[in-house]
Amino acid sequence: MLKLLAFNASPRKADGTTDVLVDRFIEGAGEAGAEIEKHYVVDLDINGCLGCFGCWWKTPGRCVQRDDMDWILPGINESDILVLGTPIYSRNTTHYLQRLVERTFLNTLPEMYIEDGTTRHPRRTKRMPRIVLAATCGFPDLVNFDIVRGLYPVALHILLPASQILLDDEGREYLSDFLDAVRLAGGTMARGEEISGSLRERLIFDYPEKNKKLIVERHNLYLTGI
Ligand SMILES: Cc1cc2nc3c(=O)[nH]c(=O)nc-3n(C[C@H](O)[C@H](O)[C@H](O)COP(=O)(O)O)c2cc1C
Repeated sequence: MLKLLAFNASPRKADGTTDVLVDRFIEGAGEAGAEIEKHYVVDLDINGCLGCFGCWWKTPGRCVQRDDMDWILPGINESDILVLGTPIYSRNTTHYLQRLVERTFLNTLPEMYIEDGTTRHPRRTKRMPRIVLAATCGFPDLVNFDIVRGLYPVALHILLPASQILLDDEGREYLSDFLDAVRLAGGTMARGEEISGSLRERLIFDYPEKNKKLIVERHNLYLTGI
């Protein structure tokens, strides 16, 4: 049975929209038999990396700090699928997610090597889960995901701009094909199958220009009623 470990880094947790994407993916994976574990990052005790390099030199592979990363790190290394859910804050992931990710630095070894013109550290652990990045943002334009796409180039990207429209029935109906695709991707990945190019395309929602304008108009109209 494949193990799926999910982290939602939205401080709005179950009241937010990132959770809808994470849950849809998990739903599909669960139906395909995956073992599921999901956490809200804001509920976890995760200190920032101290930059001491203790995990390289003093206690190789072990951080000097004791907090929830003590179980998160082995959990990540034992998982087959790692789902990272994040809203876009200032064109980036939330700092909650970044803090968790920085602490996975101890999975690298100090040596450097060059591959395809890029310098890297080898991984300490040979096992690597498949990563899924599920991100939402408030503006209707995909450009808001440019940074996170660059941060996680090999991840499966599930990207929903103007995700606030998920909060009403009409919006959910409009996004039903996208939401179906998210569930399908969860099932496909949990069966260990490849995600096809056409399914990948359905996971990145691109509004037609006229609907972007509609989203902006509705947003501004809503503001007049506050
Ligand atoms: C501090 C802050 C910064 C944000 N920055 C951006 C941004 O750069 N681009 C964007 O499109 N939306 C931005 N948003 C909107 C969020 O990405 C959007 O509300 C998101 O769907 C929230 O996810 P959630 O519902 O899971 O909490 C920002 C929101 C906050 C609170």
